[in-house]
Amino acid sequence: MSNRPLPWRTAWDEALYGEDGFFRRSRPVDHFRTSVHVGLFAEAVAELARRTSAATVVDVGAGGGELLTALRTQLPGVHLLGVEVAPRPVDLHEDIGWEASLPDRVDGLLIANEWLDNVPCDVVELDDTGVVREVLVDPRTGEESLGEACGTAWLDAWWPLDEPGQRAEVGATRDAAWGAAVARVEGTAVAIDYGHRRADRPPFGSLRSYRGGREVDVRPDGSRDVTADVAVDAVAAAVGATVLRQREALAQLGVDGSRPPLELARTDPAAYLRDLGRAGEAAELGARGGLGDFWWIISDTHGHGTLAT
Ligand SMILES: C[S@@+](CC[C@H](N)C(=O)[O-])C[C@H]1O[C@@H](n2cnc3c(N)ncnc32)[C@H](O)[C@@H]1O
Repeated sequence: MSNRPLPWRTAWDEALYGEDGFFRRSRPVDHFRTSVHVGLFAEAVAELARRTSAATVVDVGAGGGELLTALRTQLPGVHLLGVEVAPRPVDLHEDIGWEASLPDRVDGLLIANEWLDNVPCDVVELDDTGVVREVLVDPRTGEESLGEACGTAWLDAWWPLDEPGQRAEVGATRDAAWGAAVARVEGTAVAIDYGHRRADRPPFGSLRSYRGGREVDVRPDGSRDVTADVAVDAVAAAVGATVLRQREALAQLGVDGSRPPLELARTDPAAYLRDLGRAGEAAELGARGGLGDFWWIISDTHGHGTLAT
């Protein structure tokens, strides 16, 4: 590990994806819970695949293959492929493909849940003299310093800094990553992530770390996740996509959060418990201040409307 300050983007990339990087060694589920760990999410994705007549579903940043595993029983006959820098999970069903990079062409549905927030960015800060400088970090300690002045074209367009001390994560790398992915798709592409739009950028950025289910000090030392919210409007503009909240997307896909009638508990207790569980999952996926606030960035090359309703 380097013992000198590095640009955040370099240190972040090495920490997550270097030879011994965090995501090469650990399963995301051991460190944080995402929508793919909530059963109803896969049902919504399956519904989207059916509505768009997808013959293939590709999950980029597939983690432990949880979403694809759930989709296997719901989408018989549909080719399922995980794209992941981590090795193929040993317990993944043999019907599910697993690759380290995206195929040249995806005919069907491309899903990326919580991928873009892990695409490393340059981190910048406005110094006391009004100059935007790159933020450097010592990977061993997380200690930061300011480096050279840097270009501001993306910031001027998407995240202008006004006051000394304000910081931003430069989303150009996410725009480019999603643009390159969507360019391969003949069908529908959806990136799902936490993020912000121009009117509600976090003034001091959103860089943070998670490990073992808890937020910990942000540090690119390979022992923890490093993430930052996605500038979703910039990503959407790069590919001409539509943006909506997860709770709206799921409602359009028929996810129903209403509780079963109490009467059902008497007439069919098993059905009541099942429906109650589903209502709980729908509530978690649509929660304000939680997963429901996530953004769906949706593109469709076939001219289907948003979520093909
Ligand atoms: C936050 S996890 C999300 C995992 C899963 N999608 C979920 O929702 O639980 C991000 C995943 O993206 C993977 N990843 C990051 N960059 C990637 C790339 N360029 N190609 C493939 N996978 C990548 C990481 O290895 C990690 O497993």
